[in-house]
Amino acid sequence: MSELLIRGRVLTFLAEPQGIDDTAAWRYIEDGAVFVRGGKVVEIGEHAEVSRRAGPGVAVADHRPHLVLPGLIDTHLHFPQTQAIASYGAQLLEWLNTYIFVEEQKFAEAAHAAAVADRFMDELISNGTTTAVAYCSVHPESVEAYFSAAEARGMRMVGGKVMMDRNAPDALRDTPQQGYDETKRLIEKWHGRGRAHYAISPRFAITSTPGQMEMSQALVAEHPTCFVQTHLSENRDEIAFATSLYPQAKDYTDIYARYGLLNDRMLLGHCIHLGDREVSVLAETGAVGVFCPTSNLFLGSGLFDRDRFDRLGARWSVATDVGAGTSFSMLETMDEAYKVLHLNGQKLTPFNSFYRLTLGNARALGLEKHIGSLHAGADADIVVLDSSGKSAMEYRMRTATSLAEELFILQTMGDDRCVAEVYVAGKAMKGKGKVGASEKRVLETA
Ligand code: GUN
Ligand code: ZN
Repeated sequence: MSELLIRGRVLTFLAEPQGIDDTAAWRYIEDGAVFVRGGKVVEIGEHAEVSRRAGPGVAVADHRPHLVLPGLIDTHLHFPQTQAIASYGAQLLEWLNTYIFVEEQKFAEAAHAAAVADRFMDELISNGTTTAVAYCSVHPESVEAYFSAAEARGMRMVGGKVMMDRNAPDALRDTPQQGYDETKRLIEKWHGRGRAHYAISPRFAITSTPGQMEMSQALVAEHPTCFVQTHLSENRDEIAFATSLYPQAKDYTDIYARYGLLNDRMLLGHCIHLGDREVSVLAETGAVGVFCPTSNLFLGSGLFDRDRFDRLGARWSVATDVGAGTSFSMLETMDEAYKVLHLNGQKLTPFNSFYRLTLGNARALGLEKHIGSLHAGADADIVVLDSSGKSAMEYRMRTATSLAEELFILQTMGDDRCVAEVYVAGKAMKGKGKVGASEKRVLETA
């Protein structure tokens, strides 16, 4: 089994930091190492100790002085929108109709889906994201392309075919029965194959009839280990339209609740304009509200109220929401998250940001046994971050005096240029680390 010692400044979280001084919430090892065998983390610790236990002759990837963290996790984005980022000038419903429902029609063609899926996975990796939860298009071919591209790279990925049977062009509509049958077949083929997880994906209440909601309910009941994803309360016109289509529902959240879709595997994109009753329902059911700051600013949707989620005990995660989101970078996403919360008088500490990008998002997915922290037995999905990845950052870093300050510089100024290396199940994906420095290591420990 292949073995590797990854050396650098190791940072991993154990719990949600309750403040900047809550040092019990994370583990930081200045001259640290992660020992990896067969794609899993064996142990982390002081380099000298881990290296001694690993024994002589083990390959070393020496990433000093960079930070070594668990791979970043993106909990909501749209793979068919990779080439539709930066579509100008419209709010949600107009943006969907003008740009997105045109773009997604291209995914009827398997070759196009395969080409975009390859590029999509490569963009994630370039940005240090090792797990993501994506919507595919309505075409089963797009799901085949998505999971095939993930499997070729060994990535743990979540995704599913969007179901839509109204308020979309003919070419993007399925029927309740077709959505059910295609989803079921894709679950049977992909869910649990290697590192793939399926997400049952009714796009949102506007594009699904009650008949399709019932089929979604059946799929969720029949496949309790699958994820479920949809959109909720992103834009005021959307809310008015959705609730007009389901007049018997108490509010937008109640539409999904009535069809039994809310559970602790449910990811609800946006959740901006919710009332207390709705957030309390999310808290009771364990459903997760997904905060997508670059998207919410880009579409002019509104400001996510993180404090209300915390106050009412509801779970939340962070995501890019490409292509309404404007960047694949989870660092840029946290830059905007900080600003969105700031506009509401809410604080996001740098330690909390990096907790969210790793263990926090892993917990939101219920995948913390496998990803999100560098514990023994975890998947060796790892990102190496260079806090001086841009010249302005290098200059700014000269005055940084603490890890908290460094992390804040990384999230405020950083992007893919700060991603020095990415390991997926222990395999270097960029090849930039000085892998194979075993001679140097032998000299050091001699
Ligand atoms: N609501 C329904 N579909 C979408 C989508 O593709 N992007 C965003 N941002 N919101 C949606
Ligand atoms: Zn979305």
